[in-house]
Amino acid sequence: MELYIDTANVEKIEQYCAQYPLAGFTCNPTIVTKENRTVEELVNLVPGKRVFVQAIAEDYEGILADARKLRSMRDDIYVKIPCTPDGYRAMYTLKQEGFGILATAVYTVGQALMSAACGADYVAPYVNRMSDTEVDGCELVEDIVCAFASQKIETKVIAASFKNLNQVVRLLVAGAEAVTIPLDLFEKLINNKLTNDATKVFADQWEAHFNRRAI
Ligand code: E4P
Repeated sequence: MELYIDTANVEKIEQYCAQYPLAGFTCNPTIVTKENRTVEELVNLVPGKRVFVQAIAEDYEGILADARKLRSMRDDIYVKIPCTPDGYRAMYTLKQEGFGILATAVYTVGQALMSAACGADYVAPYVNRMSDTEVDGCELVEDIVCAFASQKIETKVIAASFKNLNQVVRLLVAGAEAVTIPLDLFEKLINNKLTNDATKVFADQWEAHFNRRAI
């Protein structure tokens, strides 16, 4: 299982990647611009962890140029490439050059299979955005997991675009190898009110008896 945070918040990336067993972080152009960051500021924040940055160009040559520029900043970077006709061509070429590739903006099983055929290391189905179009995003990811298993495909599914933790857990149970979640959901994952309350009651009782909040 690989857990990622989907953010360009520098402080939180450094903090959470140091404190918790995150595999790294992902971002997209919306996230980077919203945080008012540059790619240069982000790529080397967490050496030893995986970092995924999206190509901006839409045409084949432009995507190749973006990927090469990203690799000049960090040689083990994963380049996110949308599943467009030029995107598939770029994945196919860049894989032969040894790039780490994540096929992004995946909305169908066919796109996931095509990306895998092009050599993508990861495919990122957009769970919540799919649900917005009346397609059940979780079912779609489950179908991708099944398709990859039946075809013995090694490409990993990194489920993305979530609105709640139930979706995240359901897809990990279904066999998605990875998930990338926004900061608010990661903070919910590690902060359960019932657990926090129970822990406080235990410590209160201990203190009332032993006059200290420690063993
Ligand atoms: C990840 O690759 C996507 O960029 C991201 O998860 C999209 O999330 P959103 O639908 O919440 O914007």
